[in-house]
Amino acid sequence: MKLWGGRFTKETDQLVHNFNASISFDQKFYRQDIKGSIAHVFMLEKQEILTRAEREKLLEGLDSILRDIENGSLTIDGTQEDIHSFVEANLIKRIGETGKKLHTGRSRNDQVALDMKLYTRDEIVVINCLLKTLLTELLRLAELHKETFMPGFTHLQKAQPVTLAHHLSAYFEMFVRDRSRLCDIYQRMNYCPLGAGALAGTTYPLDRDYTATLLDFDGPTRNSMDSVSDRDYIIELLSALSTIMMHLSRFCEEIIVWNTDEYRFVELDDAYSTGSSIMPQKKNPDIAELIRGKTGRVYGALVSILTTMKGLPLAYNKDMQEDKELTFDALDTVKGCISLFTGMLSTTKFNRSVMEASARNGFTNATDAADYLVNHGVPFRDAHGIIGQLVLSCIDLNCSLDELPLEVYRAASPAFEADIYDAIRMKNCVEKRNTIGAPGLQAMSEVLSSYREYLDTMNLCDTIRTEGGEV
Ligand code: ARG
Repeated sequence: MKLWGGRFTKETDQLVHNFNASISFDQKFYRQDIKGSIAHVFMLEKQEILTRAEREKLLEGLDSILRDIENGSLTIDGTQEDIHSFVEANLIKRIGETGKKLHTGRSRNDQVALDMKLYTRDEIVVINCLLKTLLTELLRLAELHKETFMPGFTHLQKAQPVTLAHHLSAYFEMFVRDRSRLCDIYQRMNYCPLGAGALAGTTYPLDRDYTATLLDFDGPTRNSMDSVSDRDYIIELLSALSTIMMHLSRFCEEIIVWNTDEYRFVELDDAYSTGSSIMPQKKNPDIAELIRGKTGRVYGALVSILTTMKGLPLAYNKDMQEDKELTFDALDTVKGCISLFTGMLSTTKFNRSVMEASARNGFTNATDAADYLVNHGVPFRDAHGIIGQLVLSCIDLNCSLDELPLEVYRAASPAFEADIYDAIRMKNCVEKRNTIGAPGLQAMSEVLSSYREYLDTMNLCDTIRTEGGEV
C-alpha cells in the first residue's frame, strides 16, 4: 500500500519502485524518524489537533515500533518506499484508524529534512568525541617527546631541527580546528524544519517553536521553502569531513615514509601492519595507506552533493534523496578512519636515536650558523652567503658544519670564534627557539599545557547526548 496511491489507477512498475525507493539506506535513521514523529504528536495534542487519547495511542504505537525494530522482531523490508512510509504503514497496522492521523500537518519533505538533520547532528557529536580521543593520544605522545629531536622538512628536504612533540602538535592544531568547524556547523544547522510542510507551511495552527524545543533545536527554520530544500549543512559537513580526512591523510603519508627502511623513524605495530602473500620479509603500512586512500571517497561525496544541488529549483526535488548514501558513507568512513588512526598512532614505536641522528645531518643547523654571524654584527644577507659557501666546503670535505675546522670558519669570516660549535649544536638550535609556537622546551611546554586545558574544557558538542548513544 502506497501513502500516495489515491490518485493513481495503475501499479508502479517494479523497476520504477526499485529506482525510486530509498528504504534500503534511509532505514539508517529509523530512530530519528520515530523521534521526530513523537515530537510532532506531542505538538499536535498541545494545539488540540489531536486528543489526549489519540496522542497516547499514537505514542504507544510509535514506541512499540521502535522497540520491535531494536529487538529484531520487526524487520525493515523493501516493500515500502522509504522509512517514513514504513513507520506510518506499520503504525496504522498496529493501532488502526488513529495511525492515519500521524501525518497531519506534515509532509515527507519536512520529515526527511528533519530526520537527516537529527541524524547528522548526532554524528557530528560522535565525530567530535572521536577527535577528542585522538587529540588526547597526540598530547600524551607530545608530552613524552618534548626532547625527541628530529629534522623538520620543507620540500621533503631537511630544513631545521625540531622535536617530535612539535611535529605532533602541528597535527593537534589541525584536529582542534576540525572540531571547531564541526561545532560551527552544529550551531548553524540547529534549526528545526518540521512544520514547513511540503514547501508552504500548513493551515493547521502548528506550534513550531514547541516542536523545535522538544527536539533540542535552537528554534524553527524561518522559511518553509528553504527548510525543505536546504542541504547546505550537508555540504558544510562533507567539507569538514574532507578536511579531517586530508589531515589524516597527510599524517598517514608521513607515517608511511617514516616507516620505510630508508627513514626508520617509526616502526608500526604488528597489529596495525599486514604482510605480503609472496614476499615473506614484508610488513606493510596498509592501514595508513587505506586511510590515505579513503580520503578520495570522502572528497567524492562532497563533490557529488555539490553537483547534485547545483541548478535545483526551489523547493523540494527528488534529486536531494541522493544526499543520503554518500553522507552516510562519508560519516562511517571518517569515524572508522579516526578510530583506526588513533589505534595505529598509539601503538607506533618512535625511534628516538634514528630521528636524532637524522636531525644532525643535512646541515639543519645552517640557519643557526648564519644567525651566529648576525649576532656578531654581520648583516643577514652576507651571513647567508658566507654559510652557503661553508656548506659547499663541507660537501667537498664530506663533513658536517659541526666538524668543519675553525680555520675554515675564520677564513670565511673573522667574526667566527670557537663558540660557533656550541651555537650550532643541534640540541641548542632547538632550545634557542622559544618564541610562541616554536619547538624550544619552554615554548613547547607552555603550548602543551594550553592543550591540556583545551582537553579539560567541554566544547558545545561534548555537552550533547546523541540518539544512538554511541559516544
Ligand atoms: N525519500 C525521500 C528523500 O529522501 C523522502 C521525501 C519524499 N518526498 C517526495 N515528495 N517524494 O528525499
